[in-house]
Amino acid sequence: MGNLNNKKILLIICGGIAAYKSLEIIRLLKKDGVIIKTILTKSGAEFVTPLSVTSLSQSKVYQDLFNLENEVEMDHISLSRWADLILIAPATANTISKLASGSSDDLASTVALASNKKIFIAPAMNVRMWEHQSTKQNIKKLKTYNYELIGPEVGDMACGEYGEGKMSEPKEIINKLKIYFKSLKQKKINSRQS
Ligand SMILES: Cc1cc2nc3c(=O)[nH]c(=O)nc-3n(C[C@H](O)[C@H](O)[C@H](O)COP(=O)(O)O)c2cc1C
Repeated sequence: MGNLNNKKILLIICGGIAAYKSLEIIRLLKKDGVIIKTILTKSGAEFVTPLSVTSLSQSKVYQDLFNLENEVEMDHISLSRWADLILIAPATANTISKLASGSSDDLASTVALASNKKIFIAPAMNVRMWEHQSTKQNIKKLKTYNYELIGPEVGDMACGEYGEGKMSEPKEIINKLKIYFKSLKQKKINSRQS
């Protein structure tokens, strides 16, 4: 499995029940030696507090597109350039729709649109939201835009329903990232040998 030590990962946390699992993702990534920066959407902050995110990641949590203290740095560009990889977990139906349409009305969607990095998304939503034709179309588009999908899984949902739409478990998500970094390393070795 690939090594995550010293990798720089930008984690975007959207507003879904599964946001609590993003805290576990941060904890596990830190254990693996990852340097993390986080973006919390406005709705995401309804589910997990910026204080929890910043304490676990040991780094500032970015929330606003317009940041008067940091105007010169332009977070929506610098965050993506800083990262080796971007992970959106949980990815809500709303944010998925914004990414598919190229909309950029908050920091998360603007960073994704301005990104020059691989973006992994771990969707999490009610089964009907996941199975809705509009979400299906959006996901299809994101795949053609080279987004990498992780999950979702089938199971019991927080809303009491059952079906596909549960966010993959943090360990599963992290394994996918490790596989990605391992394949990058392998590609580099192959290109040096050829
Ligand atoms: C209690 C509650 C739970 C929600 N859970 C989800 C969810 O799991 N997945 C989802 O796509 N939206 C969920 N939503 C709706 C999103 O919070 C809403 O669409 C929001 O605009 C998403 O914003 P964001 O994509 O900017 O984070 C939930 C809303 C509430 C009130």
